[in-house]
Amino acid sequence: MEIGLRIEAEVKRMISNSKSGKTVSIFDDENQMLKFLIEKWEDVAHERIERSGYFTVALSGGKTPIVFYQKLTEWENKSFWKGTDIFLVDERFVPSEDKDSNYKMLRETLLGKIPIPQENIHPITTEKGSLEALAREYEEDLKSFFKVSKDQFPNFDLILLGIGEDGHTASLFPGSKALSEQRRLTAAVVVDETRHDRITLTLPVINHAEHVIFFVTGANKAPVLKKIIAGDDPSLPASLVQPTSGDLLFVIDREASSQLYA
Ligand code: 6PG
Repeated sequence: MEIGLRIEAEVKRMISNSKSGKTVSIFDDENQMLKFLIEKWEDVAHERIERSGYFTVALSGGKTPIVFYQKLTEWENKSFWKGTDIFLVDERFVPSEDKDSNYKMLRETLLGKIPIPQENIHPITTEKGSLEALAREYEEDLKSFFKVSKDQFPNFDLILLGIGEDGHTASLFPGSKALSEQRRLTAAVVVDETRHDRITLTLPVINHAEHVIFFVTGANKAPVLKKIIAGDDPSLPASLVQPTSGDLLFVIDREASSQLYA
């Protein structure tokens, strides 16, 4: 059986076993993969802007999505940007000019290159205030924009996530207290000395999204991706991403899928 088909068959078996509504799309070619992501983005944007006049997305940091953000700047439907609101999934607790700032990365790869109104960009402020206070401030931004009251969660149209080799997603790390947050929209995360402290969306917000996309590439992610797609290790934060009514899509390259049929 051609290796591609064998992978698809194996992935289908794993997904059906893990009884969750996830879809896995595997790509040999990066351009095909980015074209697929742009089409998905366009479909959701079109449907949402037609239906409500606006399209709300939360974007992740890290290295993997940079190629996608750069590709999005070439997207011809420029008129959609004025109806698009861009939030951040998480942020490192560094000044917005810092090399490790997700907002800086997004400005340089996407936001500074598209005709999106400044008021449609919703960064996580990291200057002037404690980690906890700025996490609260972002929560208030979300509550006022989505008009949600206590015990309600915003309904993002699309959330783009990555996965770390340890199975973290957003800034929800294995064993971190933020993983069990069931009421707040954001969490202040103190990780360890190797990583910057973080502010992140919480799991309930991620799981209330209409469309959640994991964009994952590289062989270094293959071992953890196998466990997450099989759904047999709940200690891996990315395994806890199970949209309550939305759909979950894995867009991965051949390298990242390399252990799915091992
Ligand atoms: C961040 C991200 C984080 C990221 C993963 C994967 O701020 O770092 O939001 O969750 O998606 O760490 O990062 P890479 O894409 O760099 O492997």
